[in-house]
Amino acid sequence: MADRIGHPGLAAKVMGADDAAALIGDGTHVGMSGFTGAGYPKAVPSALARRIADAHARGDPFAVGVWTGASTGPELDGALAATHGIDLRMPYQSDPVTRAQINAGEMDYVDVHLSQVAQMVWEGFFGHLDVAVVEVTAVTPDGDLVPSTSIGNNKTWLDLADRVILEVNAWQPEALDGVHDVYYGTALPPHRRPIPLVHPADRIGAPHLRCPADKVVAVVQTDAPDRHVDFTPPGRVSAAIAGHVLDFLGHEVARGRLSRQLLPLQSGVGNVANAVMAGLDGGPFGPLTAFTEVLQDGMLALLRSGTLATASATALSLGKEALGDFRANLADYRERLVLRPQEMSNHPELVRRLGVIAMNGMLEADIYGNVNSTHVMGSRIQNGIGGSGDFTRNSYLSMFLSPSTAVRGDISCIVPMVSHVDHTEHDVHVLVTEHGLADLRGLAPRQRARQVIEHCAHPDYRDALGDYLDRAEAGATGLQTPHLLDEALSWHVAYLRHGTMRAIGS
Ligand code: COA
Repeated sequence: MADRIGHPGLAAKVMGADDAAALIGDGTHVGMSGFTGAGYPKAVPSALARRIADAHARGDPFAVGVWTGASTGPELDGALAATHGIDLRMPYQSDPVTRAQINAGEMDYVDVHLSQVAQMVWEGFFGHLDVAVVEVTAVTPDGDLVPSTSIGNNKTWLDLADRVILEVNAWQPEALDGVHDVYYGTALPPHRRPIPLVHPADRIGAPHLRCPADKVVAVVQTDAPDRHVDFTPPGRVSAAIAGHVLDFLGHEVARGRLSRQLLPLQSGVGNVANAVMAGLDGGPFGPLTAFTEVLQDGMLALLRSGTLATASATALSLGKEALGDFRANLADYRERLVLRPQEMSNHPELVRRLGVIAMNGMLEADIYGNVNSTHVMGSRIQNGIGGSGDFTRNSYLSMFLSPSTAVRGDISCIVPMVSHVDHTEHDVHVLVTEHGLADLRGLAPRQRARQVIEHCAHPDYRDALGDYLDRAEAGATGLQTPHLLDEALSWHVAYLRHGTMRAIGS
């Protein structure tokens, strides 16, 4: 382990997690590594949580602001939230304890487009960054840092924090060295220059993160795994959704709008996304590329089979089996995989220029194509917008994939008017459920609504949605996007009152 810290000055700063956490005080803004359960610090956050709990037990106030790349793991978000020790969280979370506190009004949450976090922090909107706590794989003799399984906002945290605490995690394979590409050419307007990346696999930066050694106040050694999410084999609904997506891509190729190589793929997280990736494996398309945020099991399988030639992401989020494969065959994967800071992996200009095909999940869509990715019943946060906005607004083709119903069929995921808007009708090109696919490109709002009801809504809700649209067309104040405002959102209200939406329209 000692040889993981090649810089003598930093090796001299090794200490235990409790001693390192003692360097973080009440009111501190802490920038932590971590993206989708990968590369987050495993020891210092839990030690900080113990410190906060002790302070609260003495009756002393103690809370910190926690900024990360995206979601982390229970040792970070879960542990800190359980102590009520986070006063503000940004930019993304998917932790049940954190979610409960946000929805109870006990924690402020700023839900930010992931590509924009770095520039917003540079611009000072969140205040001063006091401390960075960053997991790395190793420290080079020069004091440069070999990143681990995610990069996220680490470059920004290391550049801006007054003090840096490093966790050197021996569990992370040393052969990760060389996978990363840290672009140091970013700047704020008006000093920005074009980003010289023209292919998803291009390397335009440095393999390591830089950090002045005198900023590092502690180095903590760990040997702990990332969070694993094991995927279940695609069920009937996921497989049906994937089938519609693959048919559609085939149709686009047949029409000459895409080549067999398609365009760089972006895929959100979860079982539906993995089902699509599984469907692409061995199919008629390829060799493919990916310009995405998170590389999951399904994409790794595509890399292994060669269907996917190269992939660019900011994090690796793998289940147990895929992780074993990745570690065993890292020498091969590292040639075809690039991990970048999230301001690059999700960069709107790159997404637009490369012509990415974006595929993300949603909570609900309305008949006109507006999408809610974040708020259950308009008020309650689920996770956050993550990178879905970065990719959706700027992609060549933006698709949202979801089962047609939620909560055992009691809620239709196709509604007259979404209860919260993350992605507008102007940005959403294609909606897919297990019942079919609606291609909304080139359609006027009322044409879109008929397509969405006919192809995406669950049959149990189709009549009610069609009836709503008929009556809206007859009674609305205008026919561009007809709505009956008093009724549109009552789909959600009815669910709250009765625990079911089947009563609507029946
Ligand atoms: N109304 C009410 N609740 C709903 C709902 C709806 N229309 N649709 C889903 N839900 C509930 C589910 O019942 C489930 O609740 P539970 O956790 O209590 O079981 C929860 O929301 C999550 O639903 P699930 O079907 O498991 O969703 P998922 O894993 O496919 O994720 C999102 C869907 C939208 C939550 C997820 O894609 C997300 O967080 N997206 C935003 C970020 C993003 O897109 N990141 C990728 C960009 S690269």
